[in-house]
Amino acid sequence: MSNKANLNKDEVFAEEITKASDFKFGAKVASVFDDMVSRSVPYYGEIQRMIAELAADQVQKGTDVYDLGCSTGTTMIGMNTLVDPTIRFVGIDDSKEMLDKCDVKLKEAGFVRPYELRVADLGEKVEITNASVVVLCLTLQFIRPLYREKLLKTIFDGLVPGGVLIISEKILAEENSFNRDFIKYYYDYKRRNHYSDMEISQKREALENVLIPYKLSENIYLLREAGFAHVETFFKWYNFSGVIAVKK
Ligand SMILES: C[S@@+](CC[C@H](N)C(=O)[O-])C[C@H]1O[C@@H](n2cnc3c(N)ncnc32)[C@H](O)[C@@H]1O
Repeated sequence: MSNKANLNKDEVFAEEITKASDFKFGAKVASVFDDMVSRSVPYYGEIQRMIAELAADQVQKGTDVYDLGCSTGTTMIGMNTLVDPTIRFVGIDDSKEMLDKCDVKLKEAGFVRPYELRVADLGEKVEITNASVVVLCLTLQFIRPLYREKLLKTIFDGLVPGGVLIISEKILAEENSFNRDFIKYYYDYKRRNHYSDMEISQKREALENVLIPYKLSENIYLLREAGFAHVETFFKWYNFSGVIAVKK
């Protein structure tokens, strides 16, 4: 394995941590994020492909596409190949380190379309206007529950008629009795991707107060409450989901 590959490998929780702290999307995580997310989210590549093709079919001329919690820009790079090149992309994240990496990756991917990368906290006032596609991929789960309703309403108001919100989230099972099994299958998946039991348990602890998943039905309820007319599930794997919501 080359030194470069080792540098990009997620080993954030590989050493025993004596002083526990909450998970943060700072420089350390940003530098290994692509490896982390592709080894930690089942069907991550396929979810990205699905988001790109859904976005390409839903986008409307003269509007913008937003990626909220865009991290290193993987979703925008996927959409770039399929979405009309005149459409402007807006990537928003509150981690400057993530957006710096994102900018490098978009340039490496040969972006020629107009795009803007904005540091902003999605839990506060965020400006979304003239959007026909908004993506929230693995991000709503990190927004404090208190602010989720307001964020979804802001997105709804910022969408043009016929615009869509595409959400992918870690979720809880509808029946509590299934949660334990789903999590067991998920940790087995992480072990198959070469995470040790210590890495799995230390990351779980760090995420405990930071990543707060809802049930799929709760997310669908919030989307309907925000005003979305149609809500369709396009992806489901145990405790992961993908949903597209349409503003009439
Ligand atoms: C799991 S990552 C998202 C992955 C990315 N969308 C993808 O598809 O690869 C969550 C992202 O949300 C960002 N984030 C978390 N809380 C946020 C907030 N309150 N405001 C803005 N961004 C936030 C993090 O910095 C991180 O980049």
